[in-house]
Amino acid sequence: METAVATSLTLSILTGLCAGQGVLPQGPVNGAKGGTVMFITNLSPPAQPFIQISWSVGGANIITSTGSDIIGPVYGDRITLNNNTWSLELRNLTLDDSGEYRLAIITATAETINGSTKLVVYENVSDANITGPTNHLFADVSSATLTCEAAGNITAIQWMKEGQPLSAGGNILFSEENRKVSISPVKRHDGGEYLCKLINPVSSATASYSMIVNYGPDSMTILGEHIAEVESFTLIYCSVQSVPPAAFTWLFNGQQTGVHEAGYIIKSVSYNNSGDYRCHTRNDLTGHVVSMGHSLSVKEKAPPPLSPEGAAGIAVAVMLVVVAVALGLYFGITHHWNKKGNNKQKADTDTLSQTEDMSMSSSDKGREGHKLTTQIQDRTHDHKQPQPATSHTVATSHTPGTKASAGVHEYECVGNKKAGAPTPPPRGKLLTRQTNTDTGSNIYNKSIKW
Ligand SMILES: *[C@@H]1O[C@H](CO)[C@@H](O)[C@H](O)[C@H]1NC(C)=O
Ligand SMILES: *[C@@H]1O[C@H](CO)[C@@H](O)[C@H](O)[C@H]1NC(C)=O
Ligand SMILES: *[C@@H]1O[C@H](CO)[C@@H](O)[C@H](O)[C@H]1NC(C)=O
Ligand SMILES: *[C@@H]1O[C@H](CO)[C@@H](O)[C@H](O)[C@H]1NC(C)=O
Ligand SMILES: *[C@@H]1O[C@H](CO)[C@@H](O)[C@H](O)[C@H]1NC(C)=O
Ligand SMILES: *[C@@H]1O[C@H](CO)[C@@H](O)[C@H](O)[C@H]1NC(C)=O
Ligand SMILES: *[C@@H]1O[C@H](CO)[C@@H](O)[C@H](O)[C@H]1NC(C)=O
Repeated sequence: METAVATSLTLSILTGLCAGQGVLPQGPVNGAKGGTVMFITNLSPPAQPFIQISWSVGGANIITSTGSDIIGPVYGDRITLNNNTWSLELRNLTLDDSGEYRLAIITATAETINGSTKLVVYENVSDANITGPTNHLFADVSSATLTCEAAGNITAIQWMKEGQPLSAGGNILFSEENRKVSISPVKRHDGGEYLCKLINPVSSATASYSMIVNYGPDSMTILGEHIAEVESFTLIYCSVQSVPPAAFTWLFNGQQTGVHEAGYIIKSVSYNNSGDYRCHTRNDLTGHVVSMGHSLSVKEKAPPPLSPEGAAGIAVAVMLVVVAVALGLYFGITHHWNKKGNNKQKADTDTLSQTEDMSMSSSDKGREGHKLTTQIQDRTHDHKQPQPATSHTVATSHTPGTKASAGVHEYECVGNKKAGAPTPPPRGKLLTRQTNTDTGSNIYNKSIKW
């Protein structure tokens, strides 16, 4: 290159060309094996024809034109000389064409115009390939070395991961002029698509390698409501980080469900869907297992919005009930009730009015939780049409209710002398009911403790 600059300067002086401007551009000129290059001069046709123009490489003649042309043996059908600018095209390049190319001109006034430039012929980069570990890689345990290779002349290698340049540091080390990348130990975020780009001035090639780093399952979370309305669609979704993807198994109250998806779907929730859902995950490659529970309680459907007339009706009904309670107290209905009832529950001793619902609830109180559940469902289905002002009772204390009726506009009356000391029903089932006389909404809240 220094030669080229020196020559250019000389030429400038000799030919009166502007200083710094050579006959040939500063090289090197890069060519691809099998390709074509053009040595372009900045000459323009002279007023008087040149006496001689010659191109040579390493002292060997390519073409000497003095009127007739003398062409070197290997250049016969590979060159074209431009008559006007004396630029030279060289085709079907071989690696042997690399070298110093010189243009020498003798002008009509016998002055000499010389120029030279360098040609470098590269073999195109092809068949790029990354080789990497063939065994399974485990996060924080394994090491990996990726080797990038290709045919042809390679002058540089760049690595990318997921579209970003990969840089050394931390657990990443480059060696053999970027041919190799060593990652030790592999982290979970080292998994992904690696790309190596092999470059020379005339071509490039890329290869990719998908590195899988196995880990998990861990970071488990379960998404989903803990309270679902009966007959609603419910999804409990189990999320876990795992490579390869974890196998899911859902247990319900300790029993296999046959569901092996991340999402546990209940298309229409029933009361018997209350309970403990356990998401169990396993990574067959790491052998790790993680599980987590999620409780679901099923509550009564929210009532349809009340019309003003309906609300007024309810208010009247409540007042009537209050009056009835007062009358009942007066006439000693409690006594009548106790005589009639076969109910032995302490919680019922304060019950002051008897209705169909009350009878039912009382007789159920001693039974097992699952029977209560059944009855709630049955009665819920019976009450497809809300019937305001039927079967009302009035609660006198807050206690875990055991009443079975589920009519939308029913009001429960459950007294408990042991107020504040709720006694869970047998088998740990707990059924509570909250009554809101302002909105007419009732909520069953059943949960199971083990
Ligand atoms: C090398 O690449 C150049 C440009 O991409 C192309 O013209 C030439 O034919 C290629 N050579 C071979 C041997 O494939
Ligand atoms: C260039 O020279 C060739 C012969 O050397 C001739 O056939 C051709 O006409 C010339 N072209 C021009 C544009 O002078
Ligand atoms: C290019 O050169 C090779 C040998 O160097 C030859 O086999 C091939 O035919 C040439 N191709 C052309 C288009 O001249
Ligand atoms: C120009 O090149 C010719 C042949 O390569 C050489 O004989 C001559 O000395 C050179 N002249 C200058 C000024 O470099
Ligand atoms: C990469 O190299 C491997 C092993 O040397 C070979 O099995 C594979 O076919 C190569 N892939 C490509 C695209 O050359
Ligand atoms: C290209 O590779 C060939 C053979 O591998 C070698 O002889 C040649 O010097 C290389 N050329 C360059 C420019 O590196
Ligand atoms: C739960 O109740 C529904 C009806 O409400 C019934 O179809 C289903 O079989 C019950 N499932 C179990 C496990 O008892």
